[in-house]
Amino acid sequence: MSAIGHIRRISVPDIAARKGGEPIVCLTAYGAATARLIDPFVDVILVGDSLGMVLYGFDTTLPVTLDMMVAHGAAVVRGSRHACVVVDLPFASYQSSPRSAFRAAARVMAETGCAAVKLEGGVEMAETISFLVARGIPVLGHVGVQPQSVMKTGGYRARGKSEKEAARLLADAHAVAESGAFALVVEGTMEPAARRITRSVPIPTIGIGASPACDGQVLVTEDLIGLTAGAAPRFVKRYADLGREMAAAAEAFARDVRARKFPEARHCYGTGRDAEAVPGRISARRAGNER
Ligand code: KIV
Repeated sequence: MSAIGHIRRISVPDIAARKGGEPIVCLTAYGAATARLIDPFVDVILVGDSLGMVLYGFDTTLPVTLDMMVAHGAAVVRGSRHACVVVDLPFASYQSSPRSAFRAAARVMAETGCAAVKLEGGVEMAETISFLVARGIPVLGHVGVQPQSVMKTGGYRARGKSEKEAARLLADAHAVAESGAFALVVEGTMEPAARRITRSVPIPTIGIGASPACDGQVLVTEDLIGLTAGAAPRFVKRYADLGREMAAAAEAFARDVRARKFPEARHCYGTGRDAEAVPGRISARRAGNER
């Protein structure tokens, strides 16, 4: 349990205790600015390896490195003080052995200050999850659609359509829970299968494209606010269209610059008392940044 100032961060045991209780609210963040804005409203901030696609423009999450996750994870921890921060272990940093997983997870925990790591996989990752948890590393599991295995599975289609696949998902969820994970992300799973998993595992489930019955919900923040390109997947609800606003602001700025309407006198130094009175500019001057 950590405390910063008078605000106590939500801890891993706090999240684990939410099984069947107040729904867990989780959003992604990749940097300090977004973390600061969403922090008062969410329980968990996930530094997802979705940053590979959303921020870096890769086609999949596979090129994301441990260095990237450490840099972005540390920025999110610096930008937040209330939410429980969980950082994804990237592809190839943990699958080869429990020891490799420990090395990657320990580095992420030590260098970012996050509360826990997330890794993808079910039955096949049970030994690794037990190994990490026994050594003091809290693990958030992830079953259903597993973006790091997209080359093997061939896509992002919803899982758990057939009874056989639903049973396999349930076995995965149980394996993750029995290994000591404190909660479980269930991604891209048919609603009845996700509901069944939630009812039968003792740890909270956090759904994305899963079920309202899950113990919590997670979305990628850029999807929620309309900053991702193209059509949003079915499971996304858009709460804002900042993409449109950002493009309109850039267009207006370009128009002003080309028409020599920006900057105006009040945006320039040495053109009047108004410019001296802008607080942001005063602190910039104090920091010796004035040119
Ligand atoms: O990487 C990510 O953002 C995730 C969430 C979509 C659950 O794993």
